[in-house]
Amino acid sequence: MLEQLDALLVEALAAIEGTSDETALRDLEVRYLGKKGPLTELMKGMRDVPPADKPKVGARVNEVRTSVEQAIATRRDRLDSERIAKLCADPDFDASLPVSPLLAPKVGALHPLTRVTAHIEDVFRSMGFLLLDYPEVETEFHNFDALNIPATHPARDMQDTFWVDTPEGAPKMLLRTHTSTGQVRTMKTFKPPFRAIFPGRVFRYEEVDASHEHTFHQVEGLMVDRKVSVANLIYSMKTLLSEIFEREVTIRLRPGFFPFVEPGFELDIQCQVCGGKGCSVCKHSGWVELLPCGLVHPNVLRHGGLDPDEWQGWAFGLGLSRLVMMKYQIEDIRHLLGGDLRFIQQFRQG
Ligand code: PHE
Repeated sequence: MLEQLDALLVEALAAIEGTSDETALRDLEVRYLGKKGPLTELMKGMRDVPPADKPKVGARVNEVRTSVEQAIATRRDRLDSERIAKLCADPDFDASLPVSPLLAPKVGALHPLTRVTAHIEDVFRSMGFLLLDYPEVETEFHNFDALNIPATHPARDMQDTFWVDTPEGAPKMLLRTHTSTGQVRTMKTFKPPFRAIFPGRVFRYEEVDASHEHTFHQVEGLMVDRKVSVANLIYSMKTLLSEIFEREVTIRLRPGFFPFVEPGFELDIQCQVCGGKGCSVCKHSGWVELLPCGLVHPNVLRHGGLDPDEWQGWAFGLGLSRLVMMKYQIEDIRHLLGGDLRFIQQFRQG
């Protein structure tokens, strides 16, 4: 058996010395040291070795194994050095260049808007809200008329609209200016009582600056039941905000005018970027309009096919883009959709 071991060692060392690439070396490693290799086989023969010789043979098996392992490690080091030496000899090779992004390990990051949306969806789902999705290209009806904003209403000018070209005589279409378009759609689809949120992208024909984008994100919330009060609305909004910010935030409530709610409120939060001192995000006022809300106007319930004497509701339109800016202290809304990967990479997790 000792001779067999010696022969094996000679053979293995020669094979290892003769390899010229990493893959072949790895094959040899498996062939000689693997579970099905000759060393394992020889170990099985130990049963037949006379007890007096066992220690000697056992020690030799271990020696051979160690020698083979060392020879492989040495060979691997040499192959590595040769490979690197060859690379460095290449006149086009520049070791000071950063690793190509194609070769570097990729660690993705969720866009902060995606993260905050997912969080809000979780919060509401746990409170029994439906999660709904509605079109970005909408009819004039769902964006305006259904929400108690007839063509002559001055409130139409409050939201500068991107109109979509449609054929003569066809209903007018637009890019939704708010997620409130889903209110009447939801009332027509679900039997009350219900509660739902519908997050989404909205569009306004606005001059872009640090706090205005033509494309931004909102989450609409709508609850319809037999008895719904302002107290209930405000309580729900406070719960929502403390869940989202994961801490208490200072808020203030002002009357707000939206034709589709009565009464309507503007809920402002203290600017989380400057802490209320004033900065570009809060237009130097210390407060940010974040959560307009109110009780659903009877005309909107009627458009949704609900009898206002029987059903009441509250609605809110959370400004998601602003919320994300508050939560992550982003000072310029243009970073959100700017597409600069350096921005998103800051939100890598762990
Ligand atoms: N849709 C309104 C806007 O975008 C916000 C709003 C929603 C107000 C729901 C009241 C109730 O300006």
